[in-house]
Amino acid sequence: MHAALSSVPKRISPKYFYDAQGSALFDQICALPEYYPTRTEMSILQNHAHDMAQCMGVHADIIEFGAGSLQKIRWLLKAAALPARYVPIDISGEHLQTASSQLQTEFKDLLIQPQISDYTADWQLPPALQGAGKRVIFFPGSTLGNFSPSQAHHFFQQCAQHLPGGALLLGVDLIKAPELLHAAYNDAQDVTAAFNLNLLARANRELGTNFDMTQFAHSAFYNAPLQRIEMHLQSLCAQHVQLDGQRFDFAQGETLHTEYSHKFTLTGVQQAASMAGLQAGPVWTDPLQWFGLLWLNIPSTLETAR
Ligand code: TRP
Repeated sequence: MHAALSSVPKRISPKYFYDAQGSALFDQICALPEYYPTRTEMSILQNHAHDMAQCMGVHADIIEFGAGSLQKIRWLLKAAALPARYVPIDISGEHLQTASSQLQTEFKDLLIQPQISDYTADWQLPPALQGAGKRVIFFPGSTLGNFSPSQAHHFFQQCAQHLPGGALLLGVDLIKAPELLHAAYNDAQDVTAAFNLNLLARANRELGTNFDMTQFAHSAFYNAPLQRIEMHLQSLCAQHVQLDGQRFDFAQGETLHTEYSHKFTLTGVQQAASMAGLQAGPVWTDPLQWFGLLWLNIPSTLETAR
């Protein structure tokens, strides 16, 4: 938080959204009428899980980043041929444990190894299982879009490094009419606003800051040239906040930037992935082309990647 409030302009990583309350609010966002990505991605998974499972092959070792409530993986697990293991990774520990136990009751024979960690930095994976098939990273939800382009590049590089001969199944939100994008991050029930503001409430709970929740407003808009939603918390007046005895000033209208959500084209993603050596495979999308799931093969040697 120190770093966030000291930087110019003020900004914080979206990973701090996801305490237990943030994760619960995010689940609500996923069910909002305006928030089309979750529904759309689920329908693509439902319709094409078989083809995806075919790409995975038998005994796949499936690792999911930002696994959240483990809803999406169910379609893949049902279609996959005897997956060897499922490793859901998330920063929101309590939420992940609960969701994993629930999943285990539905898939009794599946080896589930939840891992509570922050994959936005350099990550570590559990060692490959003896006799397992392809290692596949499942990264849905267009969470890639919450990275900056250079963080996204770093992510692809790490995939190339950690999973030679494996693959990435990536879900991305596609560029569409700005009105639709705007509505998805400005819902009528203000759940997204509550989710954004929870970041300040969380700081008050855990760090003892004194953010006045009534004097900050949710602000989200589509930046068309940069093809991204930008989300901010905007100060409604001139005010200051205390953190560990230090004072941080907000001018009226000044913002704390909380998130990007980049929107993509399918070829743009394939190109970005190819910069790290990943090779484009099949692509699945919905009839309106609102959301895309891409299969990206990771070469077995690192020669093409740098
Ligand atoms: N990956 C999601 C997205 O970019 C995360 C998200 C959706 C989100 N809605 C949000 C994050 C609202 C913060 C606030 O769409």
